[in-house]
Amino acid sequence: MRDYWQKKPLLIRQAFPDFVSPLDGNDLAGLSLEDLVESRIVLEHGETPWQLRNGPFTEDVYSTLPERDWTLLVQAVDQFSPEVAEVLEHFKFLPNWRIDDVMISFAVPGGSVGPHYDNYDVFLLQAEGQRLWKVGQTCDNESLLLKHPDLRILDDFKQTDEWLLEPGDMLYLPPRLAHWGIAQTDCMTWSVGFRAPSTAEVVSHYADFVARFLPDEQRYTDADMSPASDPSYIRQEDIQRLRQLLNEQLNDDRMLLTWFGQYMTEPRYPELLVGSEISADDLIQALHDGAVFTRNPTARLAWSHMQLDTEPAVVFFVSGNSRILSEHLVQLLNLLCNADAMHIDNLQPWLNDPEATTLLCELVKQGSLECLDE
Ligand code: SIN
Ligand code: CO
Repeated sequence: MRDYWQKKPLLIRQAFPDFVSPLDGNDLAGLSLEDLVESRIVLEHGETPWQLRNGPFTEDVYSTLPERDWTLLVQAVDQFSPEVAEVLEHFKFLPNWRIDDVMISFAVPGGSVGPHYDNYDVFLLQAEGQRLWKVGQTCDNESLLLKHPDLRILDDFKQTDEWLLEPGDMLYLPPRLAHWGIAQTDCMTWSVGFRAPSTAEVVSHYADFVARFLPDEQRYTDADMSPASDPSYIRQEDIQRLRQLLNEQLNDDRMLLTWFGQYMTEPRYPELLVGSEISADDLIQALHDGAVFTRNPTARLAWSHMQLDTEPAVVFFVSGNSRILSEHLVQLLNLLCNADAMHIDNLQPWLNDPEATTLLCELVKQGSLECLDE
């Protein structure tokens, strides 16, 4: 973290020794036919150079593709494949709310999406076949791009290094570093990508969030101002009042935490969170009868401490929502965020605690906890 994270690329040979991908190109092509799944094909020599086609695709598209120089990319495969989601277990040295998804690409020889840069960190795990990764300069919004309606391909890629990745090898790239991965054989690459809101998003979304709690009556005030000597002039003292108004509203740490936790836990596919009604009694009975609950892979969970005026508390963020809870529930939150499964053995200590059982029921209702069918 000290030397590489957000700073410079790191090649990790055999990060995953003897890695065997749980899915192949056909499985990925299968996913690209589904409505809910986001997929793209980039064809270097299509009807136009670097032609982008957006999924969902129909099966016949794959019989019309040439032998070389195309890539299929599927977003958020971790949402659809528990085996793929498992790879994220190895990234627990990073906050889970920073992780976005596992994108998977399948390319035929020569296939690439062109030299480009991303605004996010990425870990590129070679899952199958060989890919030559070239890295180059650090870019910014002034970097020259090809004229292309959809893709941001660099016009001027200045290569500094290159590495041939074999299955199990992984390359970390910091944001904005130019890169270009060219398939040498049929190849599959898993990209573990991250969430980082732009400063513009933070400023505008947080301001919107704060504004929702402010009544229309609360306004700019200037009681005790000194008489204007030039009525057209905006004085330093007028701006100071505005500065104070903004500081009062934007400096609330609890508000900032609440907004951030909700924002960073927004699920990618909220429609995959399908809950079911359950009462505390039924939940307890089901657990005694052997029910096992797991986190829905779409759910995003995070928590933090929050100092209330009266007592210390914790705030629990679940898929874009937040709730304030008593501090004694910290061990339960740990379990909910980390355990592979929740069952009578690990939930027993909480079943006589109404705050805990209410929380569990709400998570089931909201779809973040799912009952595994035996
Ligand atoms: C790819 O997997 O082909 C592209 C991934 C990337 O460059 O971000
Ligand atoms: Co990239």
